[in-house]
Amino acid sequence: MRLLDIIKKSSGHLEKAGVEDALVDAELLVLYAAGRDRLSAYMDNPEVDRSLVSRINRLVRRRAGGEPLQYIIGRVEFLGLDIRVGKGVLIPRPETELLVEEAIKAVKSKASSVNSLKIDSSPVTHHASRSFLDLCTGSGCIALSLAKEFPDAQVCATDVSAKAIKYATENSELNGIKNVAFLRGSLFGPVPEHVSFDLITANPPYIKSADIAGLQREVRREPAKALNGGKDGLDFYRKILSKAGSYLKESGWIFFELGFGQSEAVSAIAGRAGFRNITVVKDFAGIDRVLKAEK
Ligand SMILES: C[S@@+](CC[C@H](N)C(=O)[O-])C[C@H]1O[C@@H](n2cnc3c(N)ncnc32)[C@H](O)[C@@H]1O
Repeated sequence: MRLLDIIKKSSGHLEKAGVEDALVDAELLVLYAAGRDRLSAYMDNPEVDRSLVSRINRLVRRRAGGEPLQYIIGRVEFLGLDIRVGKGVLIPRPETELLVEEAIKAVKSKASSVNSLKIDSSPVTHHASRSFLDLCTGSGCIALSLAKEFPDAQVCATDVSAKAIKYATENSELNGIKNVAFLRGSLFGPVPEHVSFDLITANPPYIKSADIAGLQREVRREPAKALNGGKDGLDFYRKILSKAGSYLKESGWIFFELGFGQSEAVSAIAGRAGFRNITVVKDFAGIDRVLKAEK
């Protein structure tokens, strides 16, 4: 059998098993198992030996059984970073890239307004003392993207899950990013109290507890503690916003990813916690996805 035939056959199998994007997933699984890139696979269409066929079949069976593609191939791309993922850690989503892009814009625009106030306007931007905190860091995708973008900044990130901290630490090594510390513990727990940050980011668990059972089967394979935001989905926004002010420098910013339909409620919580300039940014689907607020 040739490689393109096995892609076709696997795609049919996945489609029957109810996998969305069956062809894309089949192609990715086969290329992964064969260690091929797409171009060479389609140009050479090599003969596949029996041991490779059985390896591919094993992967296809896992995918057909509802295991997320990213857990099977073990990685995902996030803003140009190679992020390892597996059972026990949330798979980074494309909408979370928007949070990072907005946070980067805010940090840069603050730096340029500070620089333009300087009489001696050096072309060098000094931000050695800048520090960021990423709560609920999971695979570390947000913290690592910020640390890469601002190599002189110090990034601290926390997660209650030991698995998440293990993946995040591995991801910092894999991507050669050194200016980040991953600490295990609940929210601000591992952060010393006297420390304050220029920026806090969080993509917290935000699904209503009652909605978890009805999620796509692939999403249900992800850890419940990465998803469950309590009865109304807002527990983490309340907890984080009740303390965030004391961990932010004056005029520091907090950035949240939001679940569908949560922007008004979270804006109100942020307002009651004393934050100002509360703004919501829509994602590509037109959904309110990122909330930013200033101390
Ligand atoms: C929605 S995931 C986000 C992961 C990652 N930041 C991302 O955007 O892909 C939420 C994360 O919050 C973590 N978490 C749950 N409860 C927590 C707590 N009390 N303190 C810190 N992290 C917590 C989970 O382990 C999970 O990694």
